[in-house]
Amino acid sequence: MYPIVRREQFSETSFLWEVLAPDVARAAQPGHFVMARLYDGGERIPLTVADYDRDKGTVTIVVQALGKTTREMRDDYREGDDFDDFVGPLGLPQHVAKVGHVVLVGGGLGVAPVFPQLRAFKAAGNRTTSIMGFRNRDLVFWEDRFRAESDELILCTDDGSYGRPGFVTDALKDVLERDPPDLVIAIGPLPMMHACVEVTRAFGVKTMVSLNTIMVDGTGMCGSCRVTVAGAVKFACVDGPDFDGHAVDFVELKARQKRFKTEEDAANADYAH
Ligand code: FES
Repeated sequence: MYPIVRREQFSETSFLWEVLAPDVARAAQPGHFVMARLYDGGERIPLTVADYDRDKGTVTIVVQALGKTTREMRDDYREGDDFDDFVGPLGLPQHVAKVGHVVLVGGGLGVAPVFPQLRAFKAAGNRTTSIMGFRNRDLVFWEDRFRAESDELILCTDDGSYGRPGFVTDALKDVLERDPPDLVIAIGPLPMMHACVEVTRAFGVKTMVSLNTIMVDGTGMCGSCRVTVAGAVKFACVDGPDFDGHAVDFVELKARQKRFKTEEDAANADYAH
């Protein structure tokens, strides 16, 4: 069993769990993900690692309550509760090296998995520019943590209620024009990552994305997380989740992400809360 040693609510739908899992914490690196399962027979949920503390033996995940299981996580599990499975770290870690100027873009919940990458690129001696994007002020989290690791921080809200008004792609374009980066990392909803990739493509700047595909086993067996990268079939769970965004077939991936929508809608409707 895995105890939740800390829980923090960021907004009505988003929250953080710090989970005691010493074996996972010992091996976790930026870019890794974990598979959580609440109880026997429950759904397996892939979650990108948002932080880890090897001394405390904890791993932090940030969750958005959108589907049945993530709403159960929000409504039924409190600090001190425990749950059945926390498997990981899975996937390949991000390749972190000193490349010069790195721009890290996080959209919504994607801000969380960007954080360990930001910290690692900073520690590797890079100059870091962070672009954080949220729909509105109420959804903002970890501004202080990002400020501490960033040479420049640009915080955007879609509705202009805090920071720079508008989308992360506009801020990204500005940075590309005035202070060209050597590498861009973009993590967030698929449409946001796709849009970032199209912005950087025109500037020829390498852009890594973290693909939050539908996953079932997380070990390369089921094919659920299949994605086409540079014309070849890849599995996000074992070949990723980080890929060169300019090589990803986002149009195909967006279509594949919708294939369980009927079942997801039915499970959500059945959920009593
Ligand atoms: Fe099954 Fe990747 S989740 S192959």
